[in-house]
Amino acid sequence: MAAIIELENISKHYSPTIIGVDNVSLTVEDGEFVTLLGPSGCGKSTLLRMIGGFEEPTAGVIRLGDQDVTLDPPYKREVNMVFQDYALFPHMTIGENVAYGLKTFKLDKNTVRTRVKDALTLVGLYEKVNQRPQQLSGGQRQRIALARAIVRRPKVLLLDEPLSALDAKLREQMQIELKHLHEKIGITFIMVTHDQTEALVMSDRVVVMEKGRIAQQGRPQDLYDHPATPYVANFIGTTTFLPGTVADGADGVATIDVAGTRISAHPEIELAKGATVTVGLRPEKVKLLAEGETAENELEGKITEVIYYGLGLRISVALADGSKIDADTLLPDKLSHSTLPQVGAPVRLGVATHNIFVFEGKVTP
Ligand SMILES: Nc1ncnc2c1ncn2[C@@H]1O[C@H](COP(=O)(O)OP(=O)(O)OP(=O)(O)O)[C@@H](O)[C@H]1O
Ligand SMILES: [Mg+2]
Repeated sequence: MAAIIELENISKHYSPTIIGVDNVSLTVEDGEFVTLLGPSGCGKSTLLRMIGGFEEPTAGVIRLGDQDVTLDPPYKREVNMVFQDYALFPHMTIGENVAYGLKTFKLDKNTVRTRVKDALTLVGLYEKVNQRPQQLSGGQRQRIALARAIVRRPKVLLLDEPLSALDAKLREQMQIELKHLHEKIGITFIMVTHDQTEALVMSDRVVVMEKGRIAQQGRPQDLYDHPATPYVANFIGTTTFLPGTVADGADGVATIDVAGTRISAHPEIELAKGATVTVGLRPEKVKLLAEGETAENELEGKITEVIYYGLGLRISVALADGSKIDADTLLPDKLSHSTLPQVGAPVRLGVATHNIFVFEGKVTP
């Protein structure tokens, strides 16, 4: 695959103290679906706006294809942006709203009509061509906004939180639709979201941002299974952290003392004996052990909270030294209240060695 966008050491300093984006280098392949993920204020929109030409970098180079577009205005780039507040014109029909996207192109009427039809067909709403925005649902309006961007046939589509205005159910449905649309039209998508599930569901690659920088990037599953830092482990999925000390760290296996227990792990970093580390555990990988059941690593504690969330239970457990970890269990077919874990009950938790994250140093994300 060829690179379609190259960001080279891009920074945006709004003022000497307000740094929106800090020295980001990123390559996006032609046809890829890349998501910028991170908490509010980490620089996602700033980065996207610089790619679109709506913001000028204070340093660095942006290439589209092999062209340097760093200082080009938006209309000179073969890039199109779908904004969060996808305002449609209420006095225009759906067809006119979509055709508006072609206004700057000076095309003849027939070409406009064909391209509007193609774009609306792609988002499955051609039958609404003569209706007005207020006759459509929120999800349908979102699709019209997409059609308005696609109709220009950009090489790259930039989407800033495109689904944030929709309710949870519709949002889930649109995530899949947008993913299918991407597969169908084959152009490059760069999307911004602060919703980790959305990023995992939709993207070929996720770029996790932290304070204007890239914390880690990779395929969804690689990020989930191999977070490089506690920040990433905490932002993608849920992780509980325990402070630990390395007892022995030879040959890819380490023994670590946590909460008064010795556990083993396969750390992805070199660890010296005696080093301070932070151990990360995903609730869904921590198992409530039945009587007589054993695991590679076992931790003992007392249940402090049981939260029911439909699909299963999240159980908070206080370990001997007072530190807390969470364990998720799926519920059996028939829920029997007498066998539900009870607050105050002693429990043993099991974790497989390969499911333990180890990070350097003492971290409290
Ligand atoms: N026009 C601006 N002038 C000054 N500072 C700005 C401007 N736009 C953004 N910032 C600052 O730059 C940083 C990054 O903002 P940005 O909008 O890129 O964040 P974001 O990741 O998109 O956040 P959100 O999820 O809340 O949309 C923030 O600290 C923000 O306050
Ligand atoms: Mg934003």
